Formats: sequence, C-alpha cells, structure tokens
Amino acid sequence: MHRLSFVPALLVVAACGGSSHPATPAPTPAAKVAWKDMDADQRHAFMEDVVMPRSKEVFMAFDAERYKDMDCKTCHGPGADDKSFEMPNPEIAPLPTTKEAYMAWLAKDEGAARMTPFMSEKVEPLMIELLQLTPYDPETKTGEFGCMGCHTLEGAPPAE
Ligand code: HEC
Ligand code: HEC
Repeated sequence: MHRLSFVPALLVVAACGGSSHPATPAPTPAAKVAWKDMDADQRHAFMEDVVMPRSKEVFMAFDAERYKDMDCKTCHGPGADDKSFEMPNPEIAPLPTTKEAYMAWLAKDEGAARMTPFMSEKVEPLMIELLQLTPYDPETKTGEFGCMGCHTLEGAPPAE
C-alpha cells in the first residue's frame, strides 16, 4: 500500500500546477482563437490539427505499442461514432470520487496505478495547455479543466 501513497498528492499537485510543465518541448501551433471562443468547425479542425497529433505523441511516449493506432475514438469513444464528440466519455473508466476509494482502486488495479501518474503529469497538463483553460483545483473546486473533462465520475448520474 505504501508505494501508492503519493497518488492523492499527485492528483492535487497536477490539478494545481501541472500546466507549468508541458509534456514535451514540441512547439504548439499558436491558436489564433482560444478553444472557448471557437465555433464548431474551428473546434473540429483544432482537434484534428493540434490535439490529435500532440496527444498521440504523448501517449506513444508512454506506451508506443498500446497507442500506435490511437485516434479520436481513444478519447471520444461512442461520441466519435455518432459525431457528437461529447465529453466526458462514459466508456473511459469512471473515476472514484474520494481519495479512499481512489486508493482502494489503485491497490487492486495495476493498470490504473500505472496510468494515474501519466494522466496527472502528462495528459491533463497537455490538454490544459492546448485548450488554454485553467486547471481544475479539487481543493477549491474552481478551474475549467481536469480529469472530468474526459472521465465521468463513479456513481454520477449518466449525462443527459
Ligand atoms: C486526448 C483526448 C482527445 C483526442 C485524441 C481527441 N479529442 Fe476531441 N475533445 C477532447 C476533449 C477533452 C474535448 C472537450 C474539451 C472541453 O472541455 O471543451 C474535446 C472536444 C471535441 C470537440 C468539440 C465538442 C463540443 O461539444 O464542442 C470536437 C468536435 C472534437 N473534440 C473532435 C475531435 C476529433 C475529430 C478528434 C480526432 C481527430 C478528436 N477530437 C480527438 C479530447 C480529445
Ligand atoms: C484528455 C482526456 C483525459 C484526461 C484529461 C484524463 N484522462 Fe485518464 N484516461 C483517458 C483515456 C482516453 C484513458 C483510456 C486509455 C486507454 O484506453 O488506454 C484514460 C485512462 C485512465 C486510467 C486507467 C483506467 C483503467 O481502465 O485502468 C486512469 C487511472 C486515469 N485515466 C486517471 C485519470 C486521472 C486521475 C486524471 C486527472 C488527473 C485523468 N485520467 C485525466 C483520458 C483522459
């Protein structure tokens, strides 16, 4: 159990300051319009031209074999098939909502234990950087983007 005790701290650290450590030094094509001001066409193009290649680079650096065929569906799941691209995606593992439940999950699921630091140190900060959003802080419950930008929460009612 002790080797997992860093995890809740990581979650908080990443939510507070992860964006100051960009996942890779590769240049980000400057978005002239910020994500929140983009219309639907601009969002689609930005996902294709920027988010998809940058994410794939980061996911492949973590596990090249698993993510060699990564595509929109890896994040969007059914939303990539029905073209709604709605997020969060309920087919990605729903996250436990308390530290205790999260720790219990990691203690019995090696895959989740391996993915958690990658998610909080690389994936979440990358998305915050690319979408130019503020990091969600679970302590104050403020900020625009966090794990729940992609994951649903365990026990949460299904999205409408
Ligand atoms: C690494 C994960 C990831 C990948 C890969 C990804 N997306 Fe996204 N996408 C997101 C997230 C997160 C959002 C929601 C951002 C927000 O909170 O506004 C989003 C939002 C969108 C939206 C806007 C949806 C809306 O309701 O406004 C579109 C369109 C979209 N993505 C298309 C794509 C396409 C097309 C691809 C593949 C070329 C793709 N995405 C790949 C994570 C991803
Ligand atoms: C940009 C979208 C995105 C964000 C933000 C994100 N995740 Fe993920 N996460 C994913 C995707 C996609 C997968 C599934 C990858 C796969 O299928 O291989 C995943 C998988 C995981 C897994 C493994 C689940 C399992 O089934 O074993 C854990 C644990 C996890 N994420 C935790 C987190 C945490 C904690 C955060 C916030 C610090 C977070 N994620 C933020 C997209 C995201």
